[in-house]
Amino acid sequence: MNEQERIITGREQEADGWQYSLRPRRLAEYIGQNQVKQNMQVFIKAAAERGEALDHVLLFGPPGLGKTTLANIIANELNVNIRITSGPAIERQGDLAAILTNLGENDVLFIDEIHRLSKTVEEILYSAMEDFALDIIIGKGPSARSVRLDLPKFTLIGATTRLGAIAAPLRDRFGVQCRLEFYRPEELCFIIERAAEILGVAIERDGADAIARRSRGTPRVANRLLKRVRDFAQVAGAGSITAQVADEALARLEVDKYGLDRNDRRILQTIVKTFNGGPVGIETIAAAVSEESDTIEDVIEPYLMQLGLIQRTPRGRVATRETYRYLGVPYKEEKR
Ligand code: ADE
Repeated sequence: MNEQERIITGREQEADGWQYSLRPRRLAEYIGQNQVKQNMQVFIKAAAERGEALDHVLLFGPPGLGKTTLANIIANELNVNIRITSGPAIERQGDLAAILTNLGENDVLFIDEIHRLSKTVEEILYSAMEDFALDIIIGKGPSARSVRLDLPKFTLIGATTRLGAIAAPLRDRFGVQCRLEFYRPEELCFIIERAAEILGVAIERDGADAIARRSRGTPRVANRLLKRVRDFAQVAGAGSITAQVADEALARLEVDKYGLDRNDRRILQTIVKTFNGGPVGIETIAAAVSEESDTIEDVIEPYLMQLGLIQRTPRGRVATRETYRYLGVPYKEEKR
């Protein structure tokens, strides 16, 4: 199955646009990520009181946890404009120069997938972040000269699914670095209830809980599942989403009680059956299941690790006793 077709992928899909209307706009409406939220509240208040731009912020963590939402909220709370772009969209130095010179004082520039910036673009970003200036070469050959352009003070918010892919000089220029964690089921319950209210669909607490437990700790997935379950509830003539309606709907969608689907099971089975429980390299797993290794590493595996169904070791991925239990395969003690 293609990652773009999986109902439980954390990655944004084309059909997810409707979720924008569910996004909280203020920190007070934002559920979960309490530590990040409390810290950001302090940094935002302090910057606003000084009338200065907030320090540059790096947000990292698996897809679908609300990095873009948080960036929008930060700009809202600071009462400044936000310009949104992404690493791959900034192809040349000139693209970045155009964006930066159009920012207003203290504005926010959000760069999603910042680990995918090209080296040349990244290099001029350094002086922009540090000195709020751009050194640009104009012309070619002997007549080429360097000019320095002053920029407004601004806040760069960078987002990435892989902290390790960010060069140290870039990472070090972010004064604030926040890791977004998977949401707890209780937090997802609140998010689902809030979304159901906005969508105008009645939901019982047990119904929200049944969806929350299969949402892989990820609001984007929770909202997607809620929308599908709503369809089943409506067609079944149920007045509201109960636990029974949610359970039946999710079984039909082939999402199991941990939020795993066939793709996840195939990866786990590959490690256990084909590679005898591992250790096995990520590239080898990727080739065996015909999936991109980046997708496994950034999107699929983080939640499997959270569940304790995959372990990362220096020699590769390893199945755990839990993995065997989950797959119903006998675990041989002497193999360890
Ligand atoms: N919708 C998606 N993520 C959310 C969050 N963290 N809080 C409230 N609503 C959300």
